[in-house]
Amino acid sequence: MWWENAVVYQIYPRSFQDSDGDGIGDLRGIAQRLDHLVDLGVDAFWLSPIYPSPLADFGYDVSDYTAIDPVFGTMADFDQLVREAHDRGLKLLLDLVPSHTSIEHPWFREHPDRYIWSPVDGPPNNWKSAFGGSAWSPDERSGRWYLHTFYPEQPDLDWRNPEVVTAMQEVVRFWLDRGVDGFRVDAVNLMVKDAELRNDPPATEGFPFPLVGERAELDHVYSANQPEVTHALAALRAAAGEALLVGEVYLPTAEYPRYLEHLDLVFAFELLFSPWKAARLRAAIEPAAALKRVAWVLSNHDFDRLATRVGVENVRAAAELLLTLPGAAFIYQGDEIGLPNGPGHEPPYDRAGRDRLRHPMQWDASPGGGFTTGEPWLKPIDPDERNVEAQRSEPGSLLNHYRRLIAARRELPSAFRILDSAPRTLSYERGDHVVTIRAE
Ligand code: NOJ
Repeated sequence: MWWENAVVYQIYPRSFQDSDGDGIGDLRGIAQRLDHLVDLGVDAFWLSPIYPSPLADFGYDVSDYTAIDPVFGTMADFDQLVREAHDRGLKLLLDLVPSHTSIEHPWFREHPDRYIWSPVDGPPNNWKSAFGGSAWSPDERSGRWYLHTFYPEQPDLDWRNPEVVTAMQEVVRFWLDRGVDGFRVDAVNLMVKDAELRNDPPATEGFPFPLVGERAELDHVYSANQPEVTHALAALRAAAGEALLVGEVYLPTAEYPRYLEHLDLVFAFELLFSPWKAARLRAAIEPAAALKRVAWVLSNHDFDRLATRVGVENVRAAAELLLTLPGAAFIYQGDEIGLPNGPGHEPPYDRAGRDRLRHPMQWDASPGGGFTTGEPWLKPIDPDERNVEAQRSEPGSLLNHYRRLIAARRELPSAFRILDSAPRTLSYERGDHVVTIRAE
């Protein structure tokens, strides 16, 4: 399969390249910058959501699954992007958001049965939203309470309703017919909830990944990760055929096998959240590598940027690790030039505080970083300090380090074995090659 050792580049469309001076990245802008991806040597790119959205969750609140938000361009621009990507040998993945819609999606009014409603006049249980507070809110119009695992503007779909299954299968087919090569599937472990809406018990041990507020106090045995999720995923697979499905399963590695029954890959979150310490990295990598089908990832648009998390002194080693582990690897735009977290925006756009991870790409040293000729929606952080143009012409730059690693990984045999190594180092064999990473 083409994706087995693929390097996939995550594009955050609002912040990649603006082509029309409105200060917001768009599809034509992405098409203009495809040669950057070719130059890096990646195989594919994933676009965070490009569908119409009221932006409560910056695209992850979708109000129409089969259209392009006008801020990003038109369907013709999308078709053109697919053509230009394929002409260059690049595959394109979209972000599929099956767990919830925007509250402004017409389904919420026209097909309320596609959502999860409280059987009582108030929250029927103690489930908490991922962004804080109760996971239940009243619908002002009907007075009934609906479930939202994320913002109240994102009502959860009911995957136990066959209509939801069929509708989402149609969405998958719609985009496959337009030429996409696969999907990153959002919040997969939250697609199906307990049919009886039972209370989550108090957490007995801490969840290993970041959780906001009271959600951390509960063990999500009923509000998430239900065995029936495999039926939902089987339905997505049936629609997707051989297209790549890579799942965002926000759970420890031990929970992944159920999801891999129908998904090709799942992100290796234990690695993403591992402190930069050799023993911790090894503990995260070994079980995930044993599954053979994880997508290695060190950052994305939701968590601290790589340079901020591991520190500038470790960004080269982090790139080496990401790109020499066996299997697919995902790079978040900007990591290849060492972009750190930015200051964000005042007042914040994202109520969960993620603006600082989403500042624009820095293509050149001009004050706008080459991102836009207009007023950027989020300011570039430090284009004179780091940008693609300068790093391309400097042989020892981080960007060229990424390019060399991506080229070199093609030569690595699939064999992989972690070796015992000196303290504060992580060593592994890939056939005849030994990789040693320093991680204090
Ligand atoms: C995960 C996405 O990556 C994140 O940005 C979003 O807020 C949630 N899922 C909800 O869709």
